[in-house]
Amino acid sequence: MFLQWLFKLAQLGGLVLLFGWSAFQFALLPVEPGARPAQGVLAWLLRRWRWAAAGGAVLLALGVTGQAVRIFGPLVSGLPWDLQLQYGWMALAGSRVGRLQLLQLGLTLIYAAVLILGRRRAAGGSPLVLGAWRGTLLLLTGAMAAAVVWGGHAASSLARWVSLAAQWSHLVVVCLWAGGLLLCACLPWRALYSGAVPNDPLLREGLRKLSGLGLVAVLTVVASGFVLAGLYIFNLTAAASSWYGRGIGLKIGLLGAVVAVAGVNRLLVLPRLDGAGDGPPPRWLGRLLGLEAVLVSVILAVSAAVTQLSPPSSPGVMAPQTWTLAAGPFRLEVFAFSPGASGVQFEIEVRDARTGRAAAVDALHFQVDMPGHFMGISPMVVPPVSPGRFVVQPPVSMAGPWRAAIAVEQDGVTYTAAVDFQVERAGWSHHSRLQRLLAGHPAGAASLVAAVAAIAAGLGLWLSWTGPAAERPGWGALPLGALLVAVGGMWAAQSVGLVPWGGESSAEVGSAGTSGALVSPGAGTSKLELAADAGQYLFWVTVEPASPGPNRLSVRLQDYVGDPVPGVSVRAQLLHPFEPEGWDPARQEVPDWSDMQAREVPLTAARDGMTYAGSLELEGEGGFALRFAAVADDSGAPVAEAFLPFRIPLDGARDLLRMADESMNRLQSVRLREELRGRPGGDAVTDMEFVSPNRVRMRFNNGRERIVIGQTRYERSGAGEPWTVAPWPQVGGFRWPNFNYGATAVRQVLVGRDEIDGRPVWVVNFVEEPPEIRYVVWIDAETYLIRRLTMHTTGHYMYWTFYDFNAPIAIEPPVNGAP
Ligand code: HEM
Repeated sequence: MFLQWLFKLAQLGGLVLLFGWSAFQFALLPVEPGARPAQGVLAWLLRRWRWAAAGGAVLLALGVTGQAVRIFGPLVSGLPWDLQLQYGWMALAGSRVGRLQLLQLGLTLIYAAVLILGRRRAAGGSPLVLGAWRGTLLLLTGAMAAAVVWGGHAASSLARWVSLAAQWSHLVVVCLWAGGLLLCACLPWRALYSGAVPNDPLLREGLRKLSGLGLVAVLTVVASGFVLAGLYIFNLTAAASSWYGRGIGLKIGLLGAVVAVAGVNRLLVLPRLDGAGDGPPPRWLGRLLGLEAVLVSVILAVSAAVTQLSPPSSPGVMAPQTWTLAAGPFRLEVFAFSPGASGVQFEIEVRDARTGRAAAVDALHFQVDMPGHFMGISPMVVPPVSPGRFVVQPPVSMAGPWRAAIAVEQDGVTYTAAVDFQVERAGWSHHSRLQRLLAGHPAGAASLVAAVAAIAAGLGLWLSWTGPAAERPGWGALPLGALLVAVGGMWAAQSVGLVPWGGESSAEVGSAGTSGALVSPGAGTSKLELAADAGQYLFWVTVEPASPGPNRLSVRLQDYVGDPVPGVSVRAQLLHPFEPEGWDPARQEVPDWSDMQAREVPLTAARDGMTYAGSLELEGEGGFALRFAAVADDSGAPVAEAFLPFRIPLDGARDLLRMADESMNRLQSVRLREELRGRPGGDAVTDMEFVSPNRVRMRFNNGRERIVIGQTRYERSGAGEPWTVAPWPQVGGFRWPNFNYGATAVRQVLVGRDEIDGRPVWVVNFVEEPPEIRYVVWIDAETYLIRRLTMHTTGHYMYWTFYDFNAPIAIEPPVNGAP
């Protein structure tokens, strides 16, 4: 941790010297080439700049090399030197982190070369040449800052592009300000006070510029800092309970101190400098600047540490778990789960190990931390909710492995126990509202970052085109301006859809408001696994990678028992665009497609006689549909035909399934029509009614009726027939509702929106295995209730329609008529 921090600090220090110091000095010094002053503040500045730039380059190079050795060293340590070099290089060049370090090193070397080789030519050339040379140097440092940011938390944040832009502006402005401050603090103050170095109007101008710069910098840094903190930190509890959050708090406090010192400087000391005329500057000036520079350096050191800690971004979720632990004379029954959408709750019962009775202990201490990342969460003393029973919601603020330590205190002795638990990465809906607003709402996020960029652009202009720089061409500031325009351009491009927003962030909020699922076009690595039945036949269909561009289509045709269908071949056609308005998947109709623009998809048969594959080009907006036809080889007669509309998947399927489970599990009652199609004996239709917590009534289309209430099953073969009574074999009896698709689904994909009975629904495909079962569920976009579900596997083509949610339904034990 210490080395990690040290290397990051070296990189930040290098950037401050290279970028900040240089930019501030370029803004102060004239672009006119020609003779350079031999003495005075100006001469001093020029001499020091070389050292500052050289020092900055060395610091950056050391920081980057150190970081690379720290990351990749353990991979190759212990090997002979030549192999260390060979494998080390492979690891560097073959990973994103490694390539970033190489890029930074390369940029530093180019900077050094441009600085050394171009200095004389630039100094002796035209203002244009000098300006271009300075501009190139600044551009290179701006790119180095971008590389530093890209290697940090921004790249993996909730909204990559928002974070990158905000963090880059934060870093660039911080470097500019800290560099200017350092430059001014390092002026030869003693010689200035004693008059050995004459006072210069440039000094006054420079300090006024610095004071103005400080004001704008504080505004920019606070704005971008809060955007970053809002994105990276789940909430105030997570901030207060992690070192990351405390580090940010410390920065804010230190910034307050800097503002106070700068205020004194600006309001009390600077006016006296104006009054001093050509005489020595007021004595306090240098010291206050020094104090400011020290405070800002401490903030930089804290920031370097913060960037190396894990941000408490999302609380994650956890499957329910129980443990029985021994702690001295006590037995601890621990139950942990995620209450609601996120967070973790622990319920602990302390019992006497011998008698098993609840034990009222003196105190219970509880602490959580991540074994891999030290979060620094303080232990808590948990008050009992009843004697021996404790409930605690620890600040578990991110996904990953966690450890909980429990200490029971009794009669002055402490007994401890610990459990390891795993927290899964939470979905979109589990992030805080502020995080989702910043990451997911393009307009909000764009305006925030545009504000930051506008302040930074103003800063660049102000630095170069007013004051002493006003008479000069100011070429040096152009690249900075260009970089800022580039950031603005990125936002503009995003708003017209040219640049991906990153992660899952171009979000659309489901109409349920606060708990709305956030979805966006998928990353393109998913696979669509679909199934379509046609009479007794089943087409298994896979589209991979299910993203725009070339895809691979594979189709397997099987009969009701899963065997190949001999003597037929399968053809496929693609229809695009297909908007399934008015087309009801449950009815399985193949629409009239004669006047639609369908394209043949050439398929090649595999050796197994069942599977066909071909390439499928998915281009353009809107939905797609595939039509499959199996025709007899000899007569050409159609054997089976199926129609399958689909869309390019979106992210967010797992969240939707979880929310659907939650909504369904809150139901008091519902009606369900189940159709089992394609059966050799004809379709089986069952009408069911469910009442929470343990009742169901089923009416089969062959007249049979069944009622289950908890442990008891009543059945009769038709109306008027006697009921038979038998136990219901399930342990604990029948229970309803018990929806759990969020946990059992694998390879789930959100394939788009649709409408059922005029209501918007999300359509999610997923698979359960083994044996492979393919599902499609239609989830109400407002209530998250499942309206329809299909399930396909060999010998089971099932269609479910839910209706009459929470209708008054009564299910009572039947009474047989008189015997
Ligand atoms: C309201 C005040 C501020 C807030 C809320 C704030 C917040 C943040 C946050 C959240 C980060 C991201 C850290 C990460 O990578 O996980 C950050 C980075 C950083 N901050 Fe601040 N900050 C503030 C003020 C300052 C000040 C005054 C300075 C320096 C004088 C500063 C210097 C930095 C630096 C150097 C980084 C590292 C950037 C990087 O490595 O990409 N911040 N800040």
